[in-house]
Amino acid sequence: MQFRLTHISFAGGQYQYILVDKKGEKKNVGFIQLNRPKALNALCDGLMMEVGKALDTFESDGEVGAIVITGSEKAFAAGADIKEMQNRTFQECYGGNFLAHWNRVSTVKKPVIAAVNGFALGGGCELAMMCDIIYAGEKAQFGQPEIMLGTIPGAGGTQRLTRAVGKSLAMEMVLTGDRISALEAKQSGLVSKVVPAEQLVSEAIKCGEKIAANSKLVSAMAKEAVNAAFELTLAEGTRLEKRLFHATFATEDRKEGMTAFVEKRKAAFQDN
Ligand code: HXC
Repeated sequence: MQFRLTHISFAGGQYQYILVDKKGEKKNVGFIQLNRPKALNALCDGLMMEVGKALDTFESDGEVGAIVITGSEKAFAAGADIKEMQNRTFQECYGGNFLAHWNRVSTVKKPVIAAVNGFALGGGCELAMMCDIIYAGEKAQFGQPEIMLGTIPGAGGTQRLTRAVGKSLAMEMVLTGDRISALEAKQSGLVSKVVPAEQLVSEAIKCGEKIAANSKLVSAMAKEAVNAAFELTLAEGTRLEKRLFHATFATEDRKEGMTAFVEKRKAAFQDN
């Protein structure tokens, strides 16, 4: 299936490293395609700044209920840009808080789906793990090869990979740089679905459309509650969950959802 891609401008300019669009029948799924094919979508500073801008735009777009980030069939992203990092000093990295802006991906309130075909290595794997759901094409490969460059993951890889796949596999990947296949990623819980490469993007958009059909307000609460599982104790987490659950009763959408069920009709959420 072919997707029409357009450049949407920001701050008076055009995106240089990404393609941005709205997908789905109702155009309610924000779509970001990393587009630096010659460098296998290596995540240079400019690219990640643009991803941040596109996310800001989708976050404030009342139509958008979910966001998909994808790359090309050969590479989701082959990591942070090694050529850009090659001559950096510690002083520049520490003083300039190198890579801090990457964090924007993990602070978006709307659900974000990574659709990974090909290589997701180093920062590419970390970018996928900052998203809420990962779908993989059959030939996707995930890895944290930084050790072979004399460094370590720096955008959450040691933390998110360990939480996703457990200590032994995370240690093995981080210490050897070995990659895992899409199937291994599915078996270890890193990804939720593996599909043929050519169906990956449409499957991810379908998932986004399903999410976007629900209340955006309540989806944000659900996302906040699940993410809390990685930060809080069980007692604190279930307390937060209960408070957010109670909070849904302050929304019109909760009322509409339950009323629609009782009246045997489809809920029409208004995001309030
Ligand atoms: C800059 C990269 C790049 C990268 C590939 N390229 N990965 N440029 N940074 N991470 C460039 C190559 O230099 C080359 O351009 C072009 O993309 C094609 O790459 P090839 O190596 O020729 O392709 P191939 O033989 O198919 O091998 C694919 C590959 C390999 C296995 C993915 O490119 C590779 O090992 N890349 C590096 C993967 C990696 O180590 N990632 C971690 C980066 S560190 P030219 O113009 O030279 O031909 C990292 C730190 C994260 O991510 C810290 C926090 C974010």
